[in-house]
Amino acid sequence: MHYKEHIQSLPAYKPAKLVSGPSAELVKLSSNENPLGPSPKAIAAFQAIAGEIHRYPDAGALALRSALGAKVGLGPEHVICSNGSDELLLLICLGLLGEGDEALMASGTFISYLIRSRELGARAVQVPLRNHSHDLPAMAAALRERTRVVFVCNPNNPTGATVGAAEVQAFLAAVPDDVLIVMDEAYVEFATRTDYPDLLPELRAGRKNVILLRTFAKIHGLAGLRLGYGYAHPELIGYLDRVRPVFNVSLPAQVAGIAALDDDEHLERSRAHAIASRAFFEHRLRGLGLKPIAGETNFVAFAVGDDAAVTAGLRERGFAVTPLAGWGLPGLIRVSFGTEEQNERFIAALQSTLEA
Ligand SMILES: Cc1ncc(COP(=O)(O)O)c(C=O)c1O
Repeated sequence: MHYKEHIQSLPAYKPAKLVSGPSAELVKLSSNENPLGPSPKAIAAFQAIAGEIHRYPDAGALALRSALGAKVGLGPEHVICSNGSDELLLLICLGLLGEGDEALMASGTFISYLIRSRELGARAVQVPLRNHSHDLPAMAAALRERTRVVFVCNPNNPTGATVGAAEVQAFLAAVPDDVLIVMDEAYVEFATRTDYPDLLPELRAGRKNVILLRTFAKIHGLAGLRLGYGYAHPELIGYLDRVRPVFNVSLPAQVAGIAALDDDEHLERSRAHAIASRAFFEHRLRGLGLKPIAGETNFVAFAVGDDAAVTAGLRERGFAVTPLAGWGLPGLIRVSFGTEEQNERFIAALQSTLEA
């Protein structure tokens, strides 16, 4: 077999041990899921469609794209849906990257940018974080002639830190028109800073080199359905549509997504829970002498010394968390917020792990 060297040399994906079902003893705080579960409206829509799943879904996901566009004052031609936003990252890379090209990203950010770019034979140029957040001036300085795509994760996974509107506007001004800026906003609904950058007006004004990536996997609690989406100029949407597998978004995902969008109560409850959990962790981690990174997401990252050993100790005590050495942040772990009761028990488990 003529395997491609740049794919063969990628690290193999190691799936986390599955944690599910009422009998599972391990509390999974490792994937930034919604501990409150899916929206009841989404569950009802999902169940109602069960008898129809012998049919293919709408290949254009028009109803869902229309609903997503209507939420922000854009038409469906500005929206693309995908099998999780992870698939959209792949489509972007397939569409825009090839051998000899460069993709610019932070080191200490969502790992898919690196893997997908390299998969396409492009060079991944990584710029270190500053204060746990994207160093946009340094990233602007790292732009080269062959840079085709820039990834900005805001809020950033795994640190949770954000960049503000002024910094992002300065960055936009520095990036050439023919370089795509991928603003990955998987956690946007959890962000609380008042100057969080709103790039939708840029799209309404016709900007072509920005795509906003969002997902139903986090605040909407539909991670298992796999549903992501992007807002961008119709020209880019049309281009990415040529790369997209036709039936990439399943029928249950389309109907549950539309129902979830109509459930503000669930969204507000989930946001309030994350914000309360953030305050809880901030207070209790500091009580243990730890320094949580100031984040605006549904998880918290902090330094523990030996991230692998602490992760193993927590696992023995019933909690799955994410060690961040593999993300370029040795010594840190990332913990997704659980239910109130899980959060309380987690702090006790962490204290016992650190004392051991
Ligand atoms: C920053 C970021 N982008 C994209 C994704 C992918 O999300 P999805 O489940 O929609 O593929 C994640 C998932 O953790 C994420 O943290």
